[in-house]
Amino acid sequence: MNALGSRLLAALAYPRAVDDFVELALPLHSTREVRARVVSVRRETHDVATLRLQPNASWRGHRAGQHVALTVELRGVRRTRCFSIASADSESTIAITVKARPEGAVTPWLVSGVLEGAIVTLSQATGDFVLPDVLPERLLFVSGGSGITPVMAMLRSLVLRGHRGKIAFLHYAHSKDDVIFAAELDALARRASPNLMIQVCTGRFTAPALLALLPDFERWDTWACAPEPFLDALTGAFAARGAEDRVRVERFSLAPTDPSLGSGEVTFVRSRRRADGHGPLLGIAEKAGLAPASGCRRGICRTCTRKKISGVTRDLRTGQLSTDADVDIQLCVSAPVGPVAIDL
Ligand SMILES: Cc1cc2nc3c(=O)[nH]c(=O)nc-3n(C[C@H](O)[C@H](O)[C@H](O)COP(=O)(O)OP(=O)(O)OC[C@H]3O[C@@H](n4cnc5c(N)ncnc54)[C@H](O)[C@@H]3O)c2cc1C
Ligand code: FES
Repeated sequence: MNALGSRLLAALAYPRAVDDFVELALPLHSTREVRARVVSVRRETHDVATLRLQPNASWRGHRAGQHVALTVELRGVRRTRCFSIASADSESTIAITVKARPEGAVTPWLVSGVLEGAIVTLSQATGDFVLPDVLPERLLFVSGGSGITPVMAMLRSLVLRGHRGKIAFLHYAHSKDDVIFAAELDALARRASPNLMIQVCTGRFTAPALLALLPDFERWDTWACAPEPFLDALTGAFAARGAEDRVRVERFSLAPTDPSLGSGEVTFVRSRRRADGHGPLLGIAEKAGLAPASGCRRGICRTCTRKKISGVTRDLRTGQLSTDADVDIQLCVSAPVGPVAIDL
């Protein structure tokens, strides 16, 4: 369209943007954000499903191991949550595999309520839990529960690329019925490739189990995603052999906060509430009966950003103090240090 045509359309659409009208007719269309159509929903276990998504032209692709912030509108409220991309990085569609959290606002709907054809909004893929360009000689992937998703993306990408180096994949689930991607892992294990070792275990991860699988595990470059105690046991095993640098970890939630890192009286100015608390301001606000918008709860999506009107807060990721008044902070990763007033 020529410049005159664009200006004419913009004038006709005023005060809305032309895009707003195009989006009504073509919901996947957006020049401003990544939208994706749910093209299929596949049940993996009783509480886990895989959604295959077809993103629009704004999508810039992903590297295996990265995640997206996905936004849906449920009963008139826009909610954002983070999910690792589980599919290989060479496919034109992407897959996320979601475990329904009891009491969760979004995941039960994604697992049991979403229909094919639904439109969701995505961030671009982000995260540095990825493989290096030059792959190490031995790759070990370790996962627990829904933490399988980012390492499965890596395994799938390597298999599709025909990678011939040594790969070991160790996954833990609560029970046999909880194993996500069980059939695919089984099929890969049956390939009987001397360089691909896949082991699925049930119960709790222990260092001796790792030792039994790989007596020289400290020589394997490792990518792991699992609940916190699992990761502690794994990194502890590597540290005991002086090989802590071999392990990269991805966490789906923040490690529990040391209360000594920050506590204080918080005033939520707009809502006229006060609460004493420690740890992330998001949790303090929720305990005080407020429901600020949040997404990843890990400092990634910025959904929880609010103005700090006064007081000192600590960034729980870096330990740094924020002492200025009238600055934006992320409630999920900021703790009060003394009295704090928040514009909430
Ligand atoms: C980088 C990243 C990648 C992720 N990838 C995946 C993935 O591939 N598949 C997947 O199923 N999940 C993944 N998650 C976790 C997922 O984002 C949460 O399960 C989801 O946000 C919960 O949303 P909800 O609305 O259902 O629950 P909410 O309404 O937000 O919370 C409901 C309850 O569950 C608790 N809760 C919320 N999140 C978690 C959590 N992560 N662990 C333990 N308790 C929690 C809350 O404290 C609350 O009590 C990922 C998280 C991050 C940060
Ligand atoms: S909830 Fe995502 S940055 Fe706080």
